[in-house]
Amino acid sequence: MSEPLVLGIESSCDETSAALLRGNRILGHVILSQDVHRLYGGVVPELAARAHLGVIGEVVRGALEEGGASLGDLDAIGVTAGPGLIGGLLVGVSWARGAAFGLGIPLIPVHHMEAHLFAPSLENPRADPPFVALLVSGGHTLLLHAEAWGRYHLLGETRDDAAGEAYDKVAKLVGLPYPGGPVIERIAREGDPARHPFPRPMLRRNARPGDADYFDVSFSGLKTAVAERVREVEEKGQLEAERAHLAAGFQEAVVEVLAAKVRRAIEATETPRVLIGGGVAANARLREALGEVLPKGGELLHASPRLSLDNGAMVARVALHRLREGWDAADEGSVADASLPFPGLVRAA
Ligand code: KG4
Ligand code: ZN
Repeated sequence: MSEPLVLGIESSCDETSAALLRGNRILGHVILSQDVHRLYGGVVPELAARAHLGVIGEVVRGALEEGGASLGDLDAIGVTAGPGLIGGLLVGVSWARGAAFGLGIPLIPVHHMEAHLFAPSLENPRADPPFVALLVSGGHTLLLHAEAWGRYHLLGETRDDAAGEAYDKVAKLVGLPYPGGPVIERIAREGDPARHPFPRPMLRRNARPGDADYFDVSFSGLKTAVAERVREVEEKGQLEAERAHLAAGFQEAVVEVLAAKVRRAIEATETPRVLIGGGVAANARLREALGEVLPKGGELLHASPRLSLDNGAMVARVALHRLREGWDAADEGSVADASLPFPGLVRAA
């Protein structure tokens, strides 16, 4: 029997995206990033929701057309039901629910961070559990031990800002546009990371596995340290000259903390494979540092940058997994939920 044809829809933040998937093959994929938020230095929820509403139909049509299919060919629709901004989620879920109801096909609600976890498997069939997973996006920072699909142990998370959020805030501090991650990464290449040695939060050398700060991370103190340094540098009129060094110093602190936490997770779980997902996984310096903490014979799993950022294909990929497991329409009950719990995630004992 051929694999089902699945449409995936993503609208939880500032990308409107739809993808058509058969098995692991992406037949059509449209990702539309909203650039209106650049004017404000961050995502404005109401503007995001309106922008999704304006384009969702066209984005889906584009993905179907690229894949040479029409709505009537679909076997199921997967949609990000949360977590995210409620206005955008409502746009995607309402559209998907209406279409699925009209077509008489399953509507499969997808958790956005679980979709990031599945993204690498779109390009690499070996990217399945067990692995340690570092999920780093604009809204979340999660360190997991994935024993199997749907069996996830939460090892650590951020106590305050997400990793991507820290990049975005620091970019704003040094006068760079939103989203901050890609620009900080770019200019950091020209900077000296040792010139502004920022603190490495939650990296006590004598921390033990049972300690609350062993796996958790925190980035708001680091952001404050950057803000203070920016003020000092600005007072001397040197922000322009120091910008790349500040970016490099900040990035090195984030990367060193994340890599150290992943190293601890590898040791504690005795799992040599590491998956990195979410927008910050597009960062080459982070991937390089994670490669360095892998044990011998270990493996780093990640998607290409395009599929690391928010996209509809990863949503369709989770829906496909649910179908393969035997989707029961009784499970449906899909509503948009801004703080949807991560399915199968338990806090490690
Ligand atoms: O997963 P994503 O596309 O959206 C959310 O689910 O939040 O992640 C977006 C985040 C933003 O904070 C952005 O600045 C960050 O990922 N990001 C990066 C890079 N590309 C995107 N951070 C560091 N380096 C990058 N190259
Ligand atoms: Zn995301």
